[in-house]
Amino acid sequence: MEPEDIIARAVAVLRENDMGGWTRASPTLYPHQWSWDSAFIAIGLAHLDTGRAAGELTALLANQWRNGKIPHIVFNPKAPPESYFPGPEHWASATDSPDAPSGPSLTSGLCQPPVHAIAARHILEVAEARNEGIDTARVFLEEAYPKLFAWHRYLATFRDPEDSGLVTIYHPWESGTDNSPRWTSALERVEVGEIPDYERLDLDHVPDPAERPTGEEYDRFIWLVEVIKDARCDDAVLQRTSPFLAKDVLASAILVKANEALLDMAEVVGAPEEDRTKISAWIERGREGLEERWDPELGLCLDYDLRADEPLKASTIAGFAPLIAGTGDAECREGLLGVLESPAFTGNPDLYKPLPPSTSPDDVGFSPRSYWRGPVWPVMNWLLWWSLKGLGERKRAERLKDCALAQLSDGHFGEYYEPFTGEALGSDDQSWTAAVALDWLA
Ligand code: DGY
Repeated sequence: MEPEDIIARAVAVLRENDMGGWTRASPTLYPHQWSWDSAFIAIGLAHLDTGRAAGELTALLANQWRNGKIPHIVFNPKAPPESYFPGPEHWASATDSPDAPSGPSLTSGLCQPPVHAIAARHILEVAEARNEGIDTARVFLEEAYPKLFAWHRYLATFRDPEDSGLVTIYHPWESGTDNSPRWTSALERVEVGEIPDYERLDLDHVPDPAERPTGEEYDRFIWLVEVIKDARCDDAVLQRTSPFLAKDVLASAILVKANEALLDMAEVVGAPEEDRTKISAWIERGREGLEERWDPELGLCLDYDLRADEPLKASTIAGFAPLIAGTGDAECREGLLGVLESPAFTGNPDLYKPLPPSTSPDDVGFSPRSYWRGPVWPVMNWLLWWSLKGLGERKRAERLKDCALAQLSDGHFGEYYEPFTGEALGSDDQSWTAAVALDWLA
């Protein structure tokens, strides 16, 4: 496929998934609006229509919780109940919380990595670059800024009562990297209580169950949802009761960059000085928190299990969190780039393309077809490309982008790809895959 064909296919995928003002994550597997998917989708949509991209985030923000949380799923009321589990009826009792948005429950009670401010700033940048829709983009930023500030404040307080600079999660789904070996040992410690009978609807939409999390993992996922429902999503209660409580370095790194974007937005909208002081402090604390999670043996940054009080040792793409946060420490940066290009990641000679597998083939939890246990994710390629570019690593960034685009020229717009064969796995026509392709080719 030539670049113009990739663009045309990407546009067609985003059209197919456009639900009229918001975009489903994929045609069948994910029929609702997912939080971080939506932010990446807005980044791509901005190149087609900055107003529509702003609308994507506005639709999500309309469902923000009163405490600032942006829910990980906003459910599509028109999607049939048998299209996704756990759907709105399953979440209903959890979202019967004073913090939930008013009206019938249409969101989950979890959250996902905070890419949103990065997407919001990007919309203005694209409008400025094209000299088109600038005023509308500024109005959007004015409306979105206080909501995004409240979101980041929620993460910096309710999700970080220890003031560590790192985001606490109650469920692997909140990391967006559900079955990654990042969470294996913390999840194994979770004793599953009584769970409702449930059907794995996700398996109806993939050709091979091995591409999705296992039944054992799913039982634990569903049990953790029960725990969260029991707590009515109350953060203070969950900090005490959740059997799964972990510091997520990838979400924390994304938050550092999102706070930088929020600081730029504060400037654009003329936010009060005290907001800027707060955001700057969050950025600093986030970077320090990540530094403390450095593991010299793996040469990566590690998540932390607050229940077991120990680092979660796994060699995964999340370990590059300091690169994503834009570390200013040259030694740390060189070290991470070395690991990224070593046989543990993109330097593995058997890879289809030198693209970072979600889990290192050297990790005991590696499994090349299984969701976050090994496959290459186009959206992660984008995040690393963007981070390398931000660090001034232009050549490395270009190489990554070229390989990632070459992979997408198969036209599947897969959710993820087998790292050794390049086979598209999971869902085809995945919206965020189309969105990052558009951003690369814009
Ligand atoms: C799923 O259902 O697979 C999602 O990752 C949970 O958000």
